[in-house]
Amino acid sequence: MFHTSYIEISKKAYKNNIRYLKKIIGKDAIFSSVIKGNAYGHGVENIIPMAEESGIRHFSVFSAKEALDAHKVIKNGSRIMIMGLLDDEEMEWAIENDIEFFVFDWCRLEQAVATAKLMGKKARIHIEAETGFNRTGFDYENIRDLIDYLKQEQEHYIFQGLCTHYAGAESLANYLRIKNQISKFRQFNRYFTRHDLQPALRHTACSAAALTYPNTIMDMVRFGISQYGFWPSPETHMFRFRKDSKDTNPLKRLLSWKSKVMVVKTVEPGNFIGYGSSFLANKRMKIAIIPVGYANGFSRALSNTGRVLIRGRRVSVIGTVTMNTMTVNVTDIPNVERGDEVVIIGKQKRLSISISSFCEMSEQLNYQLLTRLPQDIPRVIVQ
Ligand SMILES: Cc1ncc(COP(=O)(O)O)c(C=O)c1O
Repeated sequence: MFHTSYIEISKKAYKNNIRYLKKIIGKDAIFSSVIKGNAYGHGVENIIPMAEESGIRHFSVFSAKEALDAHKVIKNGSRIMIMGLLDDEEMEWAIENDIEFFVFDWCRLEQAVATAKLMGKKARIHIEAETGFNRTGFDYENIRDLIDYLKQEQEHYIFQGLCTHYAGAESLANYLRIKNQISKFRQFNRYFTRHDLQPALRHTACSAAALTYPNTIMDMVRFGISQYGFWPSPETHMFRFRKDSKDTNPLKRLLSWKSKVMVVKTVEPGNFIGYGSSFLANKRMKIAIIPVGYANGFSRALSNTGRVLIRGRRVSVIGTVTMNTMTVNVTDIPNVERGDEVVIIGKQKRLSISISSFCEMSEQLNYQLLTRLPQDIPRVIVQ
């Protein structure tokens, strides 16, 4: 088998999520599938073909390296957009391959124009507006200079988009800040329109924005976490739950993480289990060793607190999680044996362990946990 655990990716769940999210944004807005962080841990080689099968033709990544990886997989003339890092040396490759990219400062803008001039080929740019996130984007104070420059160099680029990103649309606490960002974006947009510079697309929304602020949907939405079946936050879920009251959770998780029992053994009372003295057997115990530890993405913080599923029952992690193994208490489960399926995330019979409960236990964001699932755990697509 050559691996100690594997991740299943459900095609059916993915298609379900895309259908639901497409319904929310309507026919006219483009669905951009955000596949940075190795498609939030799901594997770009798995997600891109499924997305293309669902009619998606636009993909968003963070860096030129991620664009290169995606470029090897895309078919059907899908487009790729870099939202973050693109070094000067990578610019030529991007322009050559019609890769779209965010332009958020003068260095990149000038580099894009200079490279396009040299190559005799237009750069496909998305101008990012700084609307209050305070990460990247042109400040409104400089808009006059920006417009002048863009007008002067119009032959060397295709004005693919005007965009921004919100500072936490998933949290109610940021409501006012998001509202102000929406107004600021409109101000940018009006200025561009007044000066006859029309982007092909206006796009600002990530999952949370599209799900809770419909006026952010515009011409395209950059959907990340929700396409993988996760709500960006409990607030976002509650908002949609109220609106789509027929279905309690229209988003389905794609990912299950499974392993199997490596060893089953008995420990007599009065003995510590595993490294150190964090767990003492106070009765005769049956334990199972699972070949997944912190080197495989199962956090050491889950020592003595984590849970997994075996034979349709929830069992507790006891002792410390080691680099390559964890130990679970199977005292009350009859017939557990070597080779039994272990579900670390996902369903088994009538029980399930969700990423969110897993995250709570290990104090990680679901975004963080997903993108940190080691790339060497094989991903298998199931129907
Ligand atoms: C610029 C940008 N757009 C869209 C997204 C997708 O966000 P989400 O996964 O919350 O949908 C991200 C993710 O961080 C982002 O940085």
